[in-house]
Amino acid sequence: MTWIEDLARRADAALPDYVSAYYHSSAGDGSCDREGLADWNAFRLRPAVLHDASAQDTTAEVLGTAVAAPILVAPMAQQVGARPEGEVLTAAGAAKAGTLLGVSTNTGARFDDIAAQGAPWWYQVYVARNREATRLLVERAAAAGARALILTVDTTPIGREIPAIDPRNWPEGPRKNRTANLTAAELERFGPDTDMALDLTPDTIGWLAEVSGLPVLCKGVLTARDARRCVDGGAEGIIVSTHGGRRLGNSVTSAYALPEILAEVGAEVEVHVDSGIRGGAQAAVALALGARAVHVGRPVMWGLAADGADGVADVLTRYQGELATTLRQMGIGSIRDLRPGDVVTR
Ligand code: FNR
Repeated sequence: MTWIEDLARRADAALPDYVSAYYHSSAGDGSCDREGLADWNAFRLRPAVLHDASAQDTTAEVLGTAVAAPILVAPMAQQVGARPEGEVLTAAGAAKAGTLLGVSTNTGARFDDIAAQGAPWWYQVYVARNREATRLLVERAAAAGARALILTVDTTPIGREIPAIDPRNWPEGPRKNRTANLTAAELERFGPDTDMALDLTPDTIGWLAEVSGLPVLCKGVLTARDARRCVDGGAEGIIVSTHGGRRLGNSVTSAYALPEILAEVGAEVEVHVDSGIRGGAQAAVALALGARAVHVGRPVMWGLAADGADGVADVLTRYQGELATTLRQMGIGSIRDLRPGDVVTR
């Protein structure tokens, strides 16, 4: 058993079944989730010997923010299901590990409380049917210190195969299932129109950049053609993602899609990747292929559920340590020296 599988078991034991099932769940027949894990291992790293590898530098900048390593926390909803404080603890763990977190639209924590932990953070946007609700949230996130917006674009209804947790099951009450960053009166006023809009176009990117004054990354892109449309629409970053295999059961995997997207827009914007990255060696593969950063989802949630902020920090520092060890074994002193030629496909 890997340390992450062991951690998942401890998290599952600590959580009510309906919460752990929601965290594990994947779309369709689950093959995108399963193969999303396997496809990272289809890439093999080429070790190198007789190079001075006495020190490793994993530090990086992501959209201008310095991090200890380009291993970031993916935005995930429902963190209050893991711990009542939710993202406040995740942010504290990220701060301890010297990295950055994504904060979901459906966070049960307040922006100011997350920001107070000191970790840089990006606000993930599900655009609401009522654009006024989104404008309010984005303005509040920017005012609280979010440094970028992650516009999640894989929201078409056909892919929405993950049933939401019934809000009535949440110990903290229905509001915790949505956002803590609209008032009760606002939630009442917007009603069902805080649900995801399904009429997004590339123009949405420019609108969000204008409303927030922040750079926008598009998350959930899996083809070169869509990456091009995002960049032409003003995106400053692309996050290649299958949503952890939670959108379309038999979609292509992130590892498979990454090279074509890098070839299309990698010279113009930062390309990041997530879904199925289960350790520092896999992060090294993604970085060697040309990704500027990886985002980690479920393992962080499991760390939060099992051990709170310390659990989050532990997951992230283990990934960082594994990345440094991998570099050492490849005879490489800095992540900047990783090249596509360091990877072969099986
Ligand atoms: C997610 N993900 C997600 N993405 C997003 O843009 N907004 C969200 O609110 C959520 N919520 C969410 C909840 C849970 C429980 C999970 C597991 C995932 C997707 C997430 O950002 C990321 O793409 C995947 O989790 C990455 O895959 P791994 O690392 O979990 O394999």
